[in-house]
Amino acid sequence: MRKQDRTRRCSAGAGIRRMFGVGNADRRSCFIVCVLIAASAAQAEDRSGASVAPLHVVGDGIPQSLTDVAGSAERGRALVVERGAANCLLCHAVPGSALSGDVGPSLAGVGRRLSSAQLRLRIADIQRVKPDAVMPSYYRVEGLDRVATEYRAKPVLDARQVEDLVAYLETLK
Ligand code: HEC
Repeated sequence: MRKQDRTRRCSAGAGIRRMFGVGNADRRSCFIVCVLIAASAAQAEDRSGASVAPLHVVGDGIPQSLTDVAGSAERGRALVVERGAANCLLCHAVPGSALSGDVGPSLAGVGRRLSSAQLRLRIADIQRVKPDAVMPSYYRVEGLDRVATEYRAKPVLDARQVEDLVAYLETLK
C-alpha cells in the first residue's frame, strides 16, 4: 500500500485521535481501524455488486429512497447490533444494546429529531452536513480517487443497507 493511500484512509482515525487527544503512539490502532473499514467496503461491494447511484441532496437531506423497495427496520437493527461493516455501536448508543461507544450522540429518539431524508443523508454521507465529521461516509465514492484500485468505487454499505438503517432509525421515536 502506498503511503498516500494509507494517509487518506486514516482520516477517520485521525478524527478519533483528535477527539480523544491521543498521540502518535496510537497511529497503529488508527491504521487497524482504517484497514477494517476498507476491508468491509470491499465486502459490501462483493455482496451486492450494484453500481453506486449519485446522491440527490435537497437541503440537508436526501428525500428520495436509494432503492426501489422499502427498507426493513428489522434488517437495519441487525446491521447496527452485529458490529459488521456498519459498526454503528463503535460510536453510538442505541436502545436495547448494552455495549456501545459514546463518540457520537445516542441514537435514542433520533427518529423524532430527524426526518427520513435527514437520516438518509447522515448515514450516506454525513460529511456533506458536517465537513469535519468523525463519522464515516457510508455511501460515498467520489473524493476517494486516491485509494488503491481494489477499493475504488466501493462504498462501505450498499444502497439496500442504507435504506434498512433509515427504516430502523425511523422507529427510534
Ligand atoms: C467513528 C464513529 C462513528 C461511527 C462508526 C458511526 N457514527 Fe454516527 N455519528 C458519529 C458522530 C461523532 C456524530 C456527530 C456528528 C459528527 O461529528 O460526526 C454522528 C452522528 C450521527 C447521526 C446524526 C445524529 C443527530 O442526532 O444529529 C446519525 C443519524 C448517525 N450518526 C447514525 C449512525 C449510524 C446509523 C451508524 C452506523 C451505520 C453510525 N452513525 C456510525 C460517529 C460515528
